[in-house]
Amino acid sequence: MAYINVLIGDDAWSRVVNLTLLICLYFATVWIYNVFFHPLAKFPGPLLWRGSRLPYMRAVWGGHFPYEIQKLHAQYGNIVRTAPNELSFTNPAAWDDIYSNRDGANSEAFRKSELWHGNPEGGAASVFVTTDLKEHARIRRFMDPAFSERAVLQQEPILQEYVGLCINKLRERSSAEGKTTINIVDWFNFTLFDIIGDLSFGESFGCLEKCEYEDWMAQMAAAIKLHYLSINLRYYPIINTLLKPIAGFLIPKDIIKQQMDYRQRAAAKLKRRLSPSSTIDRPDIVSQLLRSEDRGEGLTPDEVMLNSMLFINAASETTATALTGVVNNLLQNPESLSKLENEVREFSLSSGLTLQALKQLPYLNAVLKEALRMCNPNPIGHMRVTPPNGGIVAGHFVPGNTMLTIQPLALSFSAEYFHEPEAWHPERWLPQAETDPKSPYYHDNRKGVRAFGWGPQNCVGEPLGWAWMRLIIAKMVWTFDLKESDTPNSKIAWDKQEVFAIVIKHRLDVTFAERTA
Ligand code: HEM
Repeated sequence: MAYINVLIGDDAWSRVVNLTLLICLYFATVWIYNVFFHPLAKFPGPLLWRGSRLPYMRAVWGGHFPYEIQKLHAQYGNIVRTAPNELSFTNPAAWDDIYSNRDGANSEAFRKSELWHGNPEGGAASVFVTTDLKEHARIRRFMDPAFSERAVLQQEPILQEYVGLCINKLRERSSAEGKTTINIVDWFNFTLFDIIGDLSFGESFGCLEKCEYEDWMAQMAAAIKLHYLSINLRYYPIINTLLKPIAGFLIPKDIIKQQMDYRQRAAAKLKRRLSPSSTIDRPDIVSQLLRSEDRGEGLTPDEVMLNSMLFINAASETTATALTGVVNNLLQNPESLSKLENEVREFSLSSGLTLQALKQLPYLNAVLKEALRMCNPNPIGHMRVTPPNGGIVAGHFVPGNTMLTIQPLALSFSAEYFHEPEAWHPERWLPQAETDPKSPYYHDNRKGVRAFGWGPQNCVGEPLGWAWMRLIIAKMVWTFDLKESDTPNSKIAWDKQEVFAIVIKHRLDVTFAERTA
């Protein structure tokens, strides 16, 4: 006690002052350690970011994190220390080093971080959150066949049905005046929710029929945002622990209610799909997930349920963002739109637009790749952590337990890797850009853009993502003339949208007119 009195004084006022000074001293010591003595001290970055995580959190909470990081890379180069124990890379070679099991400098892909992921205690395992590489590989072994190119081709009739329904609904709306103006973000969502709902649960959500969302869908972006911000609070364990008991009061009641509602309805749909009386017999995702050759290791019904529920978010938000990026850029680049029209309208019948045929269209595929470069649906990067003994990334030794990402936007918009990176040039993705040294895009680092991730924990839904992006855009452009609307929401200033893990999309009003040519 006597020591404490010596340290902080024996009257109330001097205790307050001295305690405050002690706390300040503590933080100053941590800050000095972080900047000068931390194992990551040799990596460049702004002083304030190297010393504490506060500037990082400010960018996260402000919804402009990827843009801030992009600026830091422009200033400090390919490697930036964005927080005391975190590095951000833009070297394309780092994809292999961080995320690959095979091609990089390390013998194994780095794990997802416990802080960002981690299965709920005692809960079923999900491919999204498990940090255990073996468990992840087990689930993927059963999941991959359900999403393979072959599986997607078998699912084509389901995809064609819903995309056809979307086109018919738009036609109905435009029939009276020859045109209709819609918020295209909603229509992409209706179509994607219906398809992924049908593939995962055996029943669509009926969004296209009703031309409206279910309540929980309208709140999905808000729920993801909340989840993302709450994850970031985990960087501060004390605050996180203090907030936990009152979390129920902080999260808006309607979001909790709608999430519960969604879970119950999804569970009921899946139960119907799995019941012995179900007459559905087709190669959808759920049927393939259940067809485990070795049931001892296969997915349990709880795992099928949890993973299927998460597919809805993973599949719809991402693809809707990419598609919105496509249309936003096409409308602002009429020459590009007309090239796409020419290519797609070579087909005399809409029924000729099959998945196999669309895969072969160079300009359509180039347009989609350029949209994924400029409007990446996952612009915050995919967090990984180095193993305890550290690893090599882009030729540098990175100490153990360091958090690290590749920053997709900083890489995609770097003039070091792309000719005129700020401009919409689908031509950079055409085959001749790779082979013709006279092409301005010859030196573009196309392998740097990996919008579906990389390595064993990449996007399992990539073939499905490509298939429905090609189909939706091709059918829309084949059927209608797409025009800028005359409403205030006729274009999106992409980098003015907030990012909370996902892009919080603004509305985009597009006029669909009956095709004239
Ligand atoms: C344009 C569309 C899409 C994009 C850009 C995209 C992007 C990504 C990325 C970058 C990851 C990896 C995250 C990481 O490394 O931590 C991922 C994971 C995942 N995505 Fe996609 N995705 C898209 C569509 C889909 C679709 C249609 C599905 C179908 C259900 C899907 C299901 C998943 C799943 C299950 C994972 C987790 C994979 C794992 O951890 O093993 N995604 N996605």
